[in-house]
Amino acid sequence: MKKTIILFGVGYWGKNHLRELNANPFVSSILVVDPILNKESDILQQYKNVNFYATFEEAISKNKNIDGAIIATPPPTHFDIAKKCLEHNLHVLIEKPMVESIKELDILNQIAGDSKVLMSGHTYLYNPAVKLMKEIIDTGEIGDIMFIHSQRLNFGIMREDTDVFLSLAPHDISLVQFFMNDEEYLKMLNSKSNFTFSPFDDFSSIHLSYKNNIFAKIDVSWYYPKKIRSLSIMGSKKTIVFDDVDKKIFMHDLSVDNQYVHKNEGSKEIYFDQSISPLTNEINQFIKYFDRPAKCITGYNHTKNVIKVLEEYYK
Ligand SMILES: NC(=O)c1ccc[n+]([C@@H]2O[C@H](COP(=O)([O-])OP(=O)(O)OC[C@H]3O[C@@H](n4cnc5c(N)ncnc54)[C@H](O)[C@@H]3O)[C@@H](O)[C@H]2O)c1
Repeated sequence: MKKTIILFGVGYWGKNHLRELNANPFVSSILVVDPILNKESDILQQYKNVNFYATFEEAISKNKNIDGAIIATPPPTHFDIAKKCLEHNLHVLIEKPMVESIKELDILNQIAGDSKVLMSGHTYLYNPAVKLMKEIIDTGEIGDIMFIHSQRLNFGIMREDTDVFLSLAPHDISLVQFFMNDEEYLKMLNSKSNFTFSPFDDFSSIHLSYKNNIFAKIDVSWYYPKKIRSLSIMGSKKTIVFDDVDKKIFMHDLSVDNQYVHKNEGSKEIYFDQSISPLTNEINQFIKYFDRPAKCITGYNHTKNVIKVLEEYYK
């Protein structure tokens, strides 16, 4: 049966959700809540089939059968909106970072219970390239993971209200945690650079250590001359790299044995399904999870480790 979805926030990112929901064959009707809109807003003309409201209360007083909510508002508002939605029995998909503390996450998880979806919008995990890399790694082809390097650098949007780590790194933390099968890290080191006029950091790196001598490094910047979005996973036998700018995955057959002998048998491209966008896939999965919330790959367990890194970084 087709679903009714309520979307909170149609700013920069929420507009993408609205476009996707409008094109989604599993969605029958869309409601939008955003207090900034008025009758003159272009978006009301663009989406004549969508009902727009200034508050959640107004939306639920006029619509009784809402199935799920997507929350694409500024992070400090996520918790209150999500709590209200869960209390009204809605499944929720919350943009990253889902909440500001583990305490808030636990409260939401308790209200969601086993029957409601509580999902983070960690879009990268719904990228077919990332899914394929995980399947390949799980076959053992690259051997044991030794090191993961995630880079997200660009001359990109510099936020006025937050630093570069909170703006960009949740994606990378989510990727690292996914490939680490949501294992908890043991130790984190960080280094931050604030080199522009902005009061917030412009370049940030963290280094995470896991048991069995496995490490991960994350670099993010919004003031960098080149756009780099790259995920490299070095295994004991091979290295797999996803370049999300070129949209290519490469497997590099290289290694060094304990006699310091280098082996380099070349590289091969691995093709992945580019016919579906990560956000389309994410929304499709969200709706599929309504029947099986435990299957959600960006649910409570996954989100907990992402929020744990953020909490430690800012403490
Ligand atoms: N998954 C991704 O790749 C990705 C990319 C960009 C942003 N995001 C996330 O999306 C969220 C929104 O970011 P943005 O860049 O679109 O912000 P934005 O400031 O451009 O838009 C936020 C919108 O939310 C509205 N809003 C504020 N309070 C509200 C409330 N209580 N109820 C309803 N609407 C409310 C604002 O009026 C505004 O239109 C953030 O959590 C951000 O981290 C995710």
